[in-house]
Amino acid sequence: MSSQDHETQPIIYLDHAATSFPKPPEVSQALLDALEQASANPGRGSHRMAVQASRELFQCRKTLSKLLDVHNPVDIAFTANTTVALNMAIQGYLEAGDHVISTMTEHNSVRRPLEALKRSIGIEVTYIAVDAQGEINLAEVNQAFTPRTRLLVCNHSSNLLGSILPIAELSSIAHDHGAKILVDIAQSAGHIPVYLSQWKIDMAAFPGHKGLLGPQGTGGLYIAPDMDLNPWIYGGTGSQSEEINQPNVRPDRYEAGTPNTPGIAGLQAGARYVLERSVTKIAEEEQILTQMMIKKLLNIQGVHVLGPEIGKERTGIVSFIMEHKDSAEIAFRLDREFGIAVRAGMHCTPLAHIAAGTLATGAVRASVGYRSTADDIDQLIEAIQYIDRT
Ligand code: ALA
Repeated sequence: MSSQDHETQPIIYLDHAATSFPKPPEVSQALLDALEQASANPGRGSHRMAVQASRELFQCRKTLSKLLDVHNPVDIAFTANTTVALNMAIQGYLEAGDHVISTMTEHNSVRRPLEALKRSIGIEVTYIAVDAQGEINLAEVNQAFTPRTRLLVCNHSSNLLGSILPIAELSSIAHDHGAKILVDIAQSAGHIPVYLSQWKIDMAAFPGHKGLLGPQGTGGLYIAPDMDLNPWIYGGTGSQSEEINQPNVRPDRYEAGTPNTPGIAGLQAGARYVLERSVTKIAEEEQILTQMMIKKLLNIQGVHVLGPEIGKERTGIVSFIMEHKDSAEIAFRLDREFGIAVRAGMHCTPLAHIAAGTLATGAVRASVGYRSTADDIDQLIEAIQYIDRT
């Protein structure tokens, strides 16, 4: 492959960790259908279009429940994205004087709300170190608990390293200490199997627009049945309107205001696509491409791949640096000269960059998704070889 004008070239999309693209055609169709046929306000009114809009939401909750191993669909509250879901959990649960355990691979959408609560109400946070492969020492996690620890919050997969944390074990450790666990499944939902009930997860925040293949502006928070959060937003729910307090019924308690019905209809189509194709199958396919990419990148002299060693379990995220090349410039050239979309920089996770030793340089991140092919990987590798030479 030679350098060429990207304007004439179809994009090779390797930025699925940021958002999935393209969406299955069913997703666009579902959005359009919802806009045209179910654009009434769900839960507000009993006319047939309002009922149809309510059905769209319920159907999506049901499909997500199947995918994420949730017993009761009403335990899923829709939000605009993972960040909102994480804030809803963190700010709705923690109180002054609480101690929280988190990790050094967290995204700013976990770290910033924790740091803000540290300043505003006086919580304490311990960030557990990870090694350069993103591995955590479970004994260290266990030792970090104090009588005031009420929450362990961590991601399932790092958005920089692709490493996967042992969520079932972490959940069990948190519960042994009488604490709750909140998991950020932004990089795992739809990419690798997630078992929220089996792992006894108390809260999990997910995006609709990444591995679940829905549109941007969708996401949600799973809240286990025995959890009670202070609502994040207060307002109209269409239910118990005579009450001055936010209703106790789910999901209304956590979903004040008119929802994004067309977006959620699109998310339902995306999640159904993942369910029908099987997340296990998607995980296998993405794993093959990921390992292929790592192997080929490591064959290029001067390229260093971050995260788990080749052959080890990870999600489809491959971040790398090139000696004597600037990460932002590599990403820029991949786009402009080759039509290849990746993400460079800090990826909103400076602590993970500290763990990887790339805080000063940043890194280039290529991430595969359900539509990625071996040819996409080959084109990336050829482009990197070209950039290396020029
Ligand atoms: N959290 C997203 C990413 O890692 C946006 O790119």
